[in-house]
Formats: sequence, C-alpha cells, structure tokens
Amino acid sequence: MKKNIFLLAIETSCDDTSVAIMCNNEVLSNVTATQKVHENWGGVVPELASRDHVKHIIPVVAESLKVAKIDLSQLDAIAYTNGPGLIGSLLVGAMFGKSMAQCLRVPAIEVHHMKAHIMAHLIGDSTPSFPFLCLTVSGGHTQLVKVNDPLAFELLGQTIDDAAGEAFDKGAKILGLPYPGGPLIDKYAQTGNPHAFVFPTSNIEGTNFSFSGLKTALLYWVNKQSKAFIDLHINDICASYQHSILTQLLNKLETVAVAHKITSIAIAGGVSANSELRKRIKNMESNGYKTYIPILQYCTDNAAMIGITAYYQYLINDFATTSSCPSPRLNW
Ligand code: KG4
Ligand code: ZN
Repeated sequence: MKKNIFLLAIETSCDDTSVAIMCNNEVLSNVTATQKVHENWGGVVPELASRDHVKHIIPVVAESLKVAKIDLSQLDAIAYTNGPGLIGSLLVGAMFGKSMAQCLRVPAIEVHHMKAHIMAHLIGDSTPSFPFLCLTVSGGHTQLVKVNDPLAFELLGQTIDDAAGEAFDKGAKILGLPYPGGPLIDKYAQTGNPHAFVFPTSNIEGTNFSFSGLKTALLYWVNKQSKAFIDLHINDICASYQHSILTQLLNKLETVAVAHKITSIAIAGGVSANSELRKRIKNMESNGYKTYIPILQYCTDNAAMIGITAYYQYLINDFATTSSCPSPRLNW
C-alpha cells in the first residue's frame, strides 16, 4: 500500500503567519494569524510584519498540529515559502522551517509563493484539467500563467508597474478607506453603479498589464472633488474604479486564452476573492470555457497552498540545501 506523506507547511511572505498540515494532497489543518498592526499605517510595515511573525509562529504551528491531530514524529518534511515576499518576513518562516527540519531529521522544501497560489487548485480531488490558464492577482503580482502540468509553468504576461491588488489598496487609500482596501472596495461596489464615473482602462499592447495610470487618474479626480461628494458617492466610485481594474484583467485573460487556444481558466491570489471578478469569471462558462475559482480560504495568503506545492516537490525529491536562503524577488 502507498505510504501517506505528512507535511508541515509555513507561509510568512507578507502579513499572514500561516501553518498547514497536509496528508498527501489533502489539507488536515490550515491555521492563519492575520496581522492587525498595519491597519493604521495604510499598508504593510515590513519591520512590524517580521516582529509579528516571530510572535505568532510557535502558537500557530502548535495550533495547526493540534487541529490536524498529528505528532511531530509523523512529519515527513517541512516546507516554507522562500520568496517572493518581504525579506524579514520570509526569514522568520525559513529559519523556523529549516530548524524544525534539522531537529526532526527530515527534508526541508522551499516553495515559490506565486506558484503556490496557482497550486492551491490542486488541493483535493476536483482539480483543473491541464493545460489551464491562471490569472494570478495579488497584492504584489498580476500574472497570466499557462500551467502545463503540476509544477510546469509558463509565464505569459505580467504587470509592468502596480499589481491589481495594489491598485485596489492604493485606490482605497486615496478614497480615505483603511488598509487593506481591496475587500472594502469590493463591499461598497456591490451596491454601486459601475458606469457612474469613467476611469481609464489601460490598453497596453501584448500580454502585459498596467495599473499605475488608473491610480494616478483616480488621485487627480479625487483632488477635484469635495470630501462630502466622495462620501455621498462612495459606492458608485468604488464600483466604477473596480470596473476599470476588472475590465483590463478580463480583456487580457480572454485575449491570451484565445491566442493560446486554452479553454480552462483559473484565478488565484488575494484579488480572486473579489465577488465581481468571481462572478464575471463564472460567466465565461457561457462562452465555452471551463472555469476554476478557489474557495475563499485559499485565495488570500495561506499555508495550504504551500503544502500542496511541497507535496508535488516531495514526490520528485525537490529538497532545499542546508545553505539555501529565501529571496524577496525570486524568479520563476
Ligand atoms: O495573495 P494575497 O493575500 O497577498 C499577496 O501575496 O499579496 O493578496 C492580498 C491582496 C490585497 O491587495 C487585498 O486588497 C486583495 O488581495 N484582496 C482583494 C479582496 N480580498 C483581498 N481585492 C479585491 N477584492 C477582494 N475581495
Ligand atoms: Zn500571496
């Protein structure tokens, strides 16, 4: 009989301390401590993030093992995110993971954060058929990736400036909303008119994205309005601004899908939690696409996605060396 593989996976690339326990491709536990210290700063403060990871890592590991009912002695490997991300945050997870692996005398596995967002689709048994095209949209990245097989990725396009999540968060900040603004823009937009105001949609050629012009356009427009006007029309403004972000994302996604003759479409990353994006991706099914939308728990940063990627790496003996080190700008 095939031996079960038990993995402990750690995600600390930004402001979530998350630990998952996997049994093969199934998640036994996925415990996340989301940092609150950044709310008053309008964005993640790297120094505060690192310190908070140090505070949370031991309790979150203990809780994850407890929920999974797994003993340390049962673990076959320890996985952790080795980039891209904030270097101080990455170092906490990497050092903790490496030390655990050394103590338990099991291999350590280094996982690429953006690949892991996509690999979340391989958790459990109802997985996409290959190849599929994934729009990965997070706070730091916006990418179009063709996934040919588990762990076989082709980067087809990406943002040349701000990420989609950054456009949400910075737009929210301009509108006076707290960090992280993405979920709030989503919430206000649900009762707003997306055509009430017109914000520009970048149309740069090729497969890449651009969001910095939109953010600047919002800033100039807001500077000409009174605070009372903004507050009165906040739902329509959020719906219109979100409409501009989503129009660019969906136009590029469909253009690339047609060019590469791919009919399976997936979304991943924090922005894939956006309710309007989820609805519009689902609507693509009426045009003949198969669509894959992650459950909310696996959209934003989580350790289960690190765990599933590590499982596939474990199967091909892709282990870390003792001298490996995380990198804030890890290549594909
Ligand atoms: O993947 P993630 O958790 O972290 C990174 O790897 O960056 O993504 C975080 C991003 C933030 O920009 C946040 O505002 C955005 O995802 N986000 C959303 C929503 N939920 C999270 N953006 C739009 N609508 C949402 N519902
Ligand atoms: Zn992420």
